[in-house]
Amino acid sequence: MNPTLATRPAHSTGDLFKPIQRDLEIAERILRETIESGEPGVSRLINHLSHYRGKRLRPALLLLTARACGAVERPHHVLAAVVEMIHTATLVHDDVLDGASVRRHVATVNAGWGNQASILLGDYLFTHAFHLTSTLGEARACRLIGEATNRLCAGELHQICQRGNFDLAEEAYFDIIEGKTAELTSCCCRLGALYSGMDDDMVERLASYGRYLGLAFQIADDLLDLVGEERSVGKSLGSDLEQGKMTLPLIYLMHSASGEKTRRVLELLKNPANHKREQLAPELAACGAIAYARRRAEEFATQAAAQLVGLPSSECKSILEHLTDRVVNRDN
Ligand code: IPE
Ligand code: IPE
Ligand code: MG
Ligand code: MG
Repeated sequence: MNPTLATRPAHSTGDLFKPIQRDLEIAERILRETIESGEPGVSRLINHLSHYRGKRLRPALLLLTARACGAVERPHHVLAAVVEMIHTATLVHDDVLDGASVRRHVATVNAGWGNQASILLGDYLFTHAFHLTSTLGEARACRLIGEATNRLCAGELHQICQRGNFDLAEEAYFDIIEGKTAELTSCCCRLGALYSGMDDDMVERLASYGRYLGLAFQIADDLLDLVGEERSVGKSLGSDLEQGKMTLPLIYLMHSASGEKTRRVLELLKNPANHKREQLAPELAACGAIAYARRRAEEFATQAAAQLVGLPSSECKSILEHLTDRVVNRDN
């Protein structure tokens, strides 16, 4: 398959982000120009990324927070490009770990160019992101981006160390998703607020908003992996199951079952055959695991919305509020 010929993704968040459309485009241009290469081989790979557009949640969080707090300036655009670059790097690497073939409705980099090129492209994006941050000449941006990325990678490592542990505790799961997902969404909101000159208290509240939002977002993503439609989600699904990664609905299922049922579920989880999704879906629905995970995601979303109290009313604040609902109720 020619990786660049697949269908273009649908942008479920497109209209929602209209008020920051111009800012997103500026960030996009910075991203594109930063990673340009004169070497044709490298350039082909990078070109694939221009067909490889996601929902732009992280730059949008940074820019919406910035606008809700004050004016959007050059550092915000640069940092919005940085967070999307880091996020894309983690996805390029994550698809190697998962052996995934579809991402953002097109072929993954590993499917098109192999694992070696994917690892190096991920590294290329990471190093460009750190270098781009340093051009702001501000130690605090470098420190915050560095810390969030460290925690993100530690979360991914924690997850891989727990692969095949079908007895994973809920607490460990929350620890993993806080690291791999919520740290970056929190960092986006922190940077947006900080670079708009907000006071320490409001910066902390917005960072908490991003953290709770990230937790809700990842639980919803984990539900999609189990019961979503590949056509609308636009990425390979079922990989958590394939890779022996226990997510919230599966943890609930394991803990709610007993005796013979636990043995049967465990057998299904360990089975290398790839019909696990179909076989587990009825079990997950019947024991209330899907409803439970949704409820937990909604609780985090409610906590996220509560952090916005005290932020002056504005169009961008309303979008941040609306996003708390959107991250849970989505099909991609
Ligand atoms: C995917 O993130 C990885 C997770 C943290 C679940 P997104 O769902 O935001 O991916 P894109 O950027 O829209 O492709
Ligand atoms: C990965 O989470 C999050 C990252 C930090 C890369 P997932 O493994 O659930 O992401 P998807 O489902 O492949 O997008
Ligand atoms: Mg994955
Ligand atoms: Mg997932």
